[in-house]
Amino acid sequence: MDLNLLWHSLRPLVFRFDPERAHRMTLAALARWSERFDGRLVAGDPAHAHPREAMGLRFPNPFGLAAGLDKDAEAIPAWQALGFGFIEVGTVTAQAQPGNPRPRLFRLPEDEAIINRMGFNNAGADRVARRLRRLRERDLLQVPLGVNIGKSKVTPAERAAEDYRYSFERLGELADYVVVNISSPNTPGLRDLQRVDEVKRIVETIQEPNQRLARPRPLLVKLAPDLADGDAIDCARAALEAGCAGLILTNTTIAREGLRSRTEGMAGGLSGRPLQARSTALLATVREALGPEPTLIGVGGVRDVPSVRAKFAAGADLAQVYTGLIYRGPGLVRELLEALD
Ligand SMILES: Cc1cc2nc3c(=O)[nH]c(=O)nc-3n(C[C@H](O)[C@H](O)[C@H](O)COP(=O)(O)O)c2cc1C
Repeated sequence: MDLNLLWHSLRPLVFRFDPERAHRMTLAALARWSERFDGRLVAGDPAHAHPREAMGLRFPNPFGLAAGLDKDAEAIPAWQALGFGFIEVGTVTAQAQPGNPRPRLFRLPEDEAIINRMGFNNAGADRVARRLRRLRERDLLQVPLGVNIGKSKVTPAERAAEDYRYSFERLGELADYVVVNISSPNTPGLRDLQRVDEVKRIVETIQEPNQRLARPRPLLVKLAPDLADGDAIDCARAALEAGCAGLILTNTTIAREGLRSRTEGMAGGLSGRPLQARSTALLATVREALGPEPTLIGVGGVRDVPSVRAKFAAGADLAQVYTGLIYRGPGLVRELLEALD
């Protein structure tokens, strides 16, 4: 089945629904599918023909699902079947939380962009851990699984490190890599953690339980594109000094430059095509400053072959997509894979 063609005919219908409703319906369908099927691909599948090594892990291809689409890890087998080379779930917080009031998700079709202020709606570390444990028992995963953790809204900034630690203790062992998200614009004060001392404190606090694992997990820190270059480099260095394997660049932006759409009343993080240039430029800057060693995952505006090539040219080892998938459809991964051939 040609997924691109299918999405081309389905998209106008899906886009008639409120964005969050469309998201919920799609995810519910993928979750149901994932209970029945394991999504395993045969060895000769093109999705397994472009392996990469990074952080001591083997990725069957370099294209991953970005955090936020499957926050509660409901549809991992389906993402695997679509050909993703790795899957990142979350953001998961220590405590379950409902997120911000609706509406909190907006489509900007003219800009191929999304604005969201979801505010880390998620089932909480304990429930997601139970779900991941069941998934691990099914032994179906052929690709690395990342778990992205964030701070619970009710936890004050000075207790942030313990909040991250709680989530790590529940989820770390169930993940292949763990991402410390300090860059969402939708949890008040979260981005203030993007400071050298805070980054060090949080990562070092997580490293304690991590280093006690039989196989310590690679840790990454996810940064915002709105940081000044010098601050991003300082945070990145602090993360590496505290033992991180790499960085994810970038989260959504609070900037609104160059948009065709009107965005009054749409506070939140902007993703998709308008984010591409800044997020790729910051990736290149950080790669240049840090050298070839750390793993850099490029995310922001990937929607076609040129945009993903730009990420690799800027120094990304791996790339992730979210908004591109909404506009271009689930065939996007296969399309990107063809370009690697
Ligand atoms: C609706 C929505 C929710 C998101 N939620 C999260 C999240 O929970 N944690 C996170 O680290 N990033 C989250 N992101 C950011 C994406 O992972 C990604 O960094 C960003 O959207 C840029 O990539 P894109 O242009 O391909 O969408 C979210 C993005 C969107 C659009």
